[in-house]
This record gives sequence, C-alpha cells and structure tokens, in this order.
Amino acid sequence: MDFENVVDARRSVHEYSDEPIDQSTLREVFETATLSPSGYNLQPWEFLALREEETKTALMEAANGQEHVLEADTAVVVLGNTDPMAHAEPVFDDWLAKGYIPNEEVRSALLGNVEAMADVPEAERRVWTTRSTALAAMTLMYAARDHGVASCPMEGFDADAIVDAFDVPEGYEPVMIVTLGYPADGAADVENERKGRRPVDEVVHYESFDPSEDTRLETPDFGE
Ligand SMILES: Cc1cc2nc3c(=O)[nH]c(=O)nc-3n(C[C@H](O)[C@H](O)[C@H](O)COP(=O)(O)O)c2cc1C
Repeated sequence: MDFENVVDARRSVHEYSDEPIDQSTLREVFETATLSPSGYNLQPWEFLALREEETKTALMEAANGQEHVLEADTAVVVLGNTDPMAHAEPVFDDWLAKGYIPNEEVRSALLGNVEAMADVPEAERRVWTTRSTALAAMTLMYAARDHGVASCPMEGFDADAIVDAFDVPEGYEPVMIVTLGYPADGAADVENERKGRRPVDEVVHYESFDPSEDTRLETPDFGE
C-alpha cells in the first residue's frame, strides 16, 4: 500500500477476529516502528507485547475493562524511558562512526547536553519521552495497517496499575496502549465512514497563531 492509502485506510478498531497475526508479520510491524524519529535519536520506546489471555486480561483490568484489549491478538503497552542517557552512548558512537559528527569532542559535548536533560524535573522528562514514544506508536499503527492489521490507540488506562501488574521498573512510563489484530467482520475498518476531522483551513496557521480568528470557535463542519 502506498502511504496515502495507509493513512486513509486506518481506523481505530474495537472488534477483532480470532485470526492470529503471525510472528513474522508482527516482527516486521515492530521493525518499521523502530524507524520512527526521536529526540537526538535516543529511541526511548519499549514495546511490551501481550499475546496470552492471562496477560491481556491483566492489561484489560488496568484499562478500565476495555474489552478490545482482550479481543485483540496482541495488546502492546508502549512504554517510554524517562532517562535520556539510557541509550546515549551507543547512539553517539553510531553518529561518530557514520560521520554525522566530526570527532570525539563533539560526541562528549552531545553527551553533556543529554546528561543535562537527564537532570530536569521528572515531569519534564515525562513530556520528553512522550513526544518520541507517541511517534513510535503512530508508526506502529501505520505499519500494522500496511500489513492489513487493524489497531486502536488507547489512553484509557491506569498507568500505576500497569506498572504494578507487569512489574515495570522505575523510570519507565506507560505512554499508550495499542491493540493489534485483524478486524472482526463488520468491525469499523477501512470501509467505515471516517469520523469527522476539523477542516485543514481551521487547523493550519501560517506565520502567527490566533485561535479566535474567523471560524475557529464555530462548530466545525465535518462535511466532505
Ligand atoms: C491518545 C489517544 C487515546 C485514545 N484512547 C482511546 C481509548 O482509551 N479507548 C478507545 O477505544 N479508543 C481510544 N482512542 C481512539 C480514538 O477514539 C480515535 O482515534 C478517534 O475517535 C478517531 O477515530 P479513528 O482513529 O478511527 O480515525 C484514542 C486515540 C488517541 C490518539
């Protein structure tokens, strides 16, 4: 599928069939997700992929009982590492080896920048990790759709309950759940009419930003 079609075909799907996703497809989907961009290429994401009834049930309980967590072939907890230093050394070694940075001195300066980021308050680090990790979650959903696998992003969960249920170590933040599976017959998938989107002229602001301008506070028209 080309990119426009993947984006156009994606829907949040809440009902899944029993058809399993084969392991090689799942691997390809995760591989594509790892191509996502991240701040300094630090890749703060981890994907906790749950495929067993017992683990998916535990996740469903932490996700306000949302049943598509259990129904989906795979429920993924997308975790963000709030320590920017976690992968910094190999990332900058790679930059040096590939000539993205000229020498060891620049490598040390970059490590210093990231070390300084690691010292900011936890709330800021959580925002930092959420930016990159959410992009990886989006790539995961598009990659899935490209393989005919439906998905649903979810924020309706108790992060502390997930941490408890899966012994998530300190410093990792459950950013999102993404369910993955083949849609059940008649489930909201590509053929369903898209839920309305705010018009492009309402959301794009060239050169300055004043959301009170023109029609922006009116009820958006979701027509064609
Ligand atoms: C950050 C985020 C959180 C969401 N949380 C939930 C959720 O907890 N449960 C759910 O069923 N859908 C959830 N959704 C799916 C949205 O309802 C859905 O994306 C939206 O209605 C647009 O529909 P579409 O994805 O089919 O285009 C979430 C979506 C996003 C992006």
